[in-house]
Amino acid sequence: MTAHSIVDLQTPALLVDAEALEYNLVTMAAARPGAQLRPHVKAHKCTTLARRQAAHGHHTFTCATIREVEGMVAAGLADDLLLANEVLDARRLGALEARVTVAVDSAHTIAAAAAGGVREVVIDVNVGLPRCGCAPEDAGRLADLARATGLSVRGVMGYEGHAVGLDDRATRERLCEESMQRLLAAHAQVGGALISAGATGTYDCNRWATEIQAGSYALMDTAYAKLALPFRRALSVLATVISVSAGHAVADCGLKALGMDHGNPSIDDATVWFCSDEHITFAAAAAVRVGDRIRVWPGHIDPTVAYHERMHVVSGERVVDVWPVDLRGW
Ligand SMILES: Cc1ncc(COP(=O)(O)O)c(C=O)c1O
Repeated sequence: MTAHSIVDLQTPALLVDAEALEYNLVTMAAARPGAQLRPHVKAHKCTTLARRQAAHGHHTFTCATIREVEGMVAAGLADDLLLANEVLDARRLGALEARVTVAVDSAHTIAAAAAGGVREVVIDVNVGLPRCGCAPEDAGRLADLARATGLSVRGVMGYEGHAVGLDDRATRERLCEESMQRLLAAHAQVGGALISAGATGTYDCNRWATEIQAGSYALMDTAYAKLALPFRRALSVLATVISVSAGHAVADCGLKALGMDHGNPSIDDATVWFCSDEHITFAAAAAVRVGDRIRVWPGHIDPTVAYHERMHVVSGERVVDVWPVDLRGW
């Protein structure tokens, strides 16, 4: 049964503020229209939300997992999907009736793409984040290898993930530019139309990428809220106060409902002490009663969403829609 008010929801429950989400989608579509944005679905894992992004003009998407690619194809959002990640078994990708491009950074991942039946790749370049990606000077060699293997090389990608969350704007811009110089050097060796990079934190200062892979902008979190970006917090976790003691209160929303890698979540007009598996302990400025509903603002949206089966779209206290988080799993 669909709840008509948040009062009727079982907690913890993901809430998406409809007006804030729409504001964020409109703001990004104005700054990065159409194919200048390749929205990353890892942040929301929800094809209904991806369809809203398509309605705002973005028809190319970024994915982080094979499951996300499959789910986007099943939802009919399959014009041009980029798996911005390395895989060593690409058979599920090759079986899809859709345009699927995969990131490669080694002879192993090139061989896996070809063996799995994937036809198009981008060369993933390490631009400063110690994660996947080849050295810029290896990109040309890998592109030649990929082409010799029968793959079409669409260009390069390079995620400046070490820069995107820095709250000092000057440092963020400087690291972004240094990263993109590395990516452009690689692109000069690789060729192709795509220079794919960027995220919510660099959506406006990354002037070198042909497309920006931002994901968090749609729903936002408290880590990104510190950056003074023009996006609003749209995602919270509704919780119920289950115990009150002198000096602190406890609500039913803990580590298993919140991504905590960016630190504690926040609660308006309260100090969060700590989270445990099923509990959040906090001290509120005003009196709190057992049964009160509170909104918990997550520090990191991606892992938070991945803990939940559905999002409740709300306008004020009214639940206007329920969207499945249907891209979870592997
Ligand atoms: C490869 C890649 N591109 C883009 C992003 C998007 O970042 P954000 O959600 O910060 O916009 C991520 C996020 O982790 C990523 O891993």
